[in-house]
Amino acid sequence: MQNQRGVHVLVVIYPAQGHINPLIQFAKRLASKGVKVTVATTPYTIKSIHANTISIEPISDGFDEGGFKQASSLETYLESFKTVGSTTLAELIVKFNNSGTPVSCIVYDSLLSWALDVAKEFGIYAAMLLTNSASVCSLYWQINQGRLTLPMKQEALAAPMPGLPSLGFSDLPSFLTQPAKHYAYLSLILDNTGALDKNDWVFCNSFEELERELVKALMGLWPVEMIGPLVPSFYLDHQIEGDTSYGASLWKQDKDQCLKWLDSKPLKSVVYVSFGSMSSICSKQFEEIAWGLKASNMPFLWVAKEFKDEQLLEFTDSVGERGLFVTWCNQLEVLAHQAVGCFVTHCGWNSTLEGLSLGVPMVCVPQWSDQPTNAKFLADVWKVGVRTKKDEGIVTREELEKCLREVMVGERNEEIKSNASKWKEHAKRAVSIGGSSDRKIDEFIAELGKSKD
Ligand code: UDX
Repeated sequence: MQNQRGVHVLVVIYPAQGHINPLIQFAKRLASKGVKVTVATTPYTIKSIHANTISIEPISDGFDEGGFKQASSLETYLESFKTVGSTTLAELIVKFNNSGTPVSCIVYDSLLSWALDVAKEFGIYAAMLLTNSASVCSLYWQINQGRLTLPMKQEALAAPMPGLPSLGFSDLPSFLTQPAKHYAYLSLILDNTGALDKNDWVFCNSFEELERELVKALMGLWPVEMIGPLVPSFYLDHQIEGDTSYGASLWKQDKDQCLKWLDSKPLKSVVYVSFGSMSSICSKQFEEIAWGLKASNMPFLWVAKEFKDEQLLEFTDSVGERGLFVTWCNQLEVLAHQAVGCFVTHCGWNSTLEGLSLGVPMVCVPQWSDQPTNAKFLADVWKVGVRTKKDEGIVTREELEKCLREVMVGERNEEIKSNASKWKEHAKRAVSIGGSSDRKIDEFIAELGKSKD
């Protein structure tokens, strides 16, 4: 490991699990290459981060005790983070500059575009890190540029850009199909995409092989570089010793219980079910999934953080040892376990990349945000799973059972498994030394060694 003298990267993190994970992992990757890295995030998030190769410093969102939950609305929270965050980030940079470890570059989450203004104020490099796929970001960008208009129409979009497939209405991010409902996120995202070309780098948590055609089309429009998948290296290339978790969990994990239970199950027999950190399914959907799993006769491990004991009890009694419910787990350890044969996922971008990187076939049950578009790619472009159909907004028990059978034992089982293994190999190659993503990170570090004009 080379010491990258004088290079100091400040990674600014938005405090939600699906954002903390890739940014922490990027920080660890840089640190493993000898770069001094400091992570800046909110005080209550800092308590959940355990990563010994990086330093952590607080910046404030104006709600230091409990963050988002304390704010009266999402709009209030985002506005407060922008105002108080900009000031406290600038103070942190001054502190480093005065203590002989000046900051060379700010790498910031794409939800925090005010960090770009702070970088400009100090004349230092700025890099935005996109936590969605390049495909999804390109859709937001096309709206920002007036190439696509809101509200999106019901008819399909025929190949809206090279590298994007034709997208039906149900394949589009919910922010675009229900703009009024998601106004706060949408306006933030559209503002940010307007600033993409003002950055020195736009890093995307994806890899060239996955979105090759699209990235070619984007080059020249924004300074985009694919540097993912930002998944702990233990699962891909073993570059960072002992890197088996992101090192930042907002929930307490049931680690030993999950692994012990999985150890008792046959090879590739278990269905792992999770809807990520931000989605919550309604009671009706919970029930349909539960009875679909029961009818499949397959063992399952379900992360059901939002359900009350009474609702679970009746069901768990009826499935006995065949089902395990936990409130949170180390998803990577679970996906990497030899007993897991299928991932029933909401298709959050991190879960999508984790399933692909670990070669696990998927049943897609997208909920909102970018998830419908990710599901479209998983099922129809990368062909590593199937997407459930909804009936009045609900995936029925019959539909879930049908999809589980299709993926686990149906006619397409071999094809899906073989595609999943292929993507696992591509992901591994991208982040291995000299791989497409690894080279981009090296080029970034080399550039930081030069002074910004
Ligand atoms: C959301 C969006 O859906 C996602 O696309 C966006 O880019 C970030 O915000 P989230 O709903 O949390 O994220 O889903 P996902 O992106 O899949 O992230 C969840 C993370 O939590 C994953 O890294 C996953 O490994 C982790 N996780 C989930 C656990 O560690 N344990 C669990 O039990 C469940």
